[in-house]
Amino acid sequence: MKEIITKTLKKHLKKISEEEIKKLIEVPPLEDLGDYSFPCFFLAKIEKKNPLLIAETLYEKIKKDLPKEIQKIELKSSYINFFIDKKVLAEEVIKEKEKKYKENKVLVIDFSSPNIAKPFGIGHLRSTIIGNSLANIFEYFGWKVIRLNYLGDWGTQFGKLIFGFKKWGNEEELKKDPINYLLKIYVKANEEIYEEEGRKEFRKLEEGNKENLKLWKNFRKESLEKFEEIYSFFDIKFDEISGESFYNEKGRDFLNILKEKNLIEESEGAKIVDLKKFNLGVVIIQKKDGALPYLTRDLAAVLDRFKRYKFNKMIYEVGQEQKLHFKQFFKILELADFDFFKNCIHVSHGLYLDDKGKTFSTREGNVVFMEDIIKETKDLAKKRIQKREPNLKIEELEKRASLIARAAIIYGDLKNYRENDVVFNISKFLDFEGNTGPYLLYSYARAFSIIKKFKEKKKIEILEINKEEERLIKKLYEFEDVVKRAFENLSPNLIANYSFELCKTFNEFYHAHQVIGSKEESFRISLVNTFRKTLKKSLNLLGIKEIEEM
Ligand code: ARG
Repeated sequence: MKEIITKTLKKHLKKISEEEIKKLIEVPPLEDLGDYSFPCFFLAKIEKKNPLLIAETLYEKIKKDLPKEIQKIELKSSYINFFIDKKVLAEEVIKEKEKKYKENKVLVIDFSSPNIAKPFGIGHLRSTIIGNSLANIFEYFGWKVIRLNYLGDWGTQFGKLIFGFKKWGNEEELKKDPINYLLKIYVKANEEIYEEEGRKEFRKLEEGNKENLKLWKNFRKESLEKFEEIYSFFDIKFDEISGESFYNEKGRDFLNILKEKNLIEESEGAKIVDLKKFNLGVVIIQKKDGALPYLTRDLAAVLDRFKRYKFNKMIYEVGQEQKLHFKQFFKILELADFDFFKNCIHVSHGLYLDDKGKTFSTREGNVVFMEDIIKETKDLAKKRIQKREPNLKIEELEKRASLIARAAIIYGDLKNYRENDVVFNISKFLDFEGNTGPYLLYSYARAFSIIKKFKEKKKIEILEINKEEERLIKKLYEFEDVVKRAFENLSPNLIANYSFELCKTFNEFYHAHQVIGSKEESFRISLVNTFRKTLKKSLNLLGIKEIEEM
């Protein structure tokens, strides 16, 4: 529709491009003002004429040859308002040609990326949810997407852990509850007095000491198995699970590159890159004991990714607290003449807060375990389902509870703009009414039950279109535009908010009008089905799986 309006306008506007016209077209705030409007005062500058005059002339010209999709136009001060022919719009929405995008581009997205031997933090959950949705959105537009999990599996902390495990640990206990167990050991070993021992063990690990390597491998394996449970709950699959450990040696090669470019300086035995000129401080790229820090491994890793994938975009979905890290990291790439630095972006997010508005991590030593959260959410979902359907079979209950819990957690996050903090409240997330994941699933199930009973007819007759139908048609029509905006702004929340509005509009329609047995039946059923399909697409883009019965 926007396209048609753009073309119509372009015929009479020579000095401005189609693209510019399209950008100017607005959706008016009130239904009375039409479906789209075009503000003419922007033209005043170009034409050097009075905007009212321009609007009037343009209006007269367009009125003379309106395309069939436009029912009428109106002139309101310097705006031209377009009223779309509802039937034409309805037909287009129902026909719903599946849009297939083809794009010869590669996105590598580094997300989730938890640290081994530590609990999967609630902060990593945000990265997991947002990152996965962004990956889906890029895929929708035809990009080849590499989902990459970059484990925090290297660094001096593993020296401490190995030291602690040798001193206090045993294999049996580790198997039972690996992450908890390793966390306890780490806390003990992290004391000042063991500093030197930890360093020693890490050096041995770096040098490839067999015993230390074996321990480390085992920690990694046990952790990964635990993480997999979380990924399988959210049905997230990675194309590549790598980690910092892969890039330790390559990090040393990268130091040579920086040396050749004369970017390295010595400072108190450490090697640094001075970024003060750019207001980014001084960055250590090799510690004085020779060990490499996080940032150096990131440098090596991105180069390797570029070599292997020739990415057009490289997204890091990581919390706000690493903003400086990524600025420094990208700046060093730029200084070292790696042109692809332009295509690297840090997509950051805010924190999860508890009901009291506090961050989770500050609760005195209280670590929140992701698996507990999932279990708690599922249990609560089960209770709520059973209240409505006490006799549901166990397997069905399990299945539904899982999908509802997943939708609740994902939507609870994604309905917020990612940079904002989110109050993590499971009970609210799980409300069956209100702005929640379960409400969306519920709307889907409702539409599904109608379609299941009454198949769409071949011949669809469109009679008069009422207000509620019109609103639903227009909402459905918005889908492509919304996904595009989510893509451009890297903001899945736009799709989340759209899904909610779409469901509200559908439910309003459904409450006001009979579908089955009405004389508009054929049309209304096809409208319900289009709603169902569009909602499914939206939910899937967020990483939520729809549910047929609720
Ligand atoms: N493991 C890191 C952390 O938990 C996040 C890694 C993000 N990705 C990266 N390439 N730096 O803080």
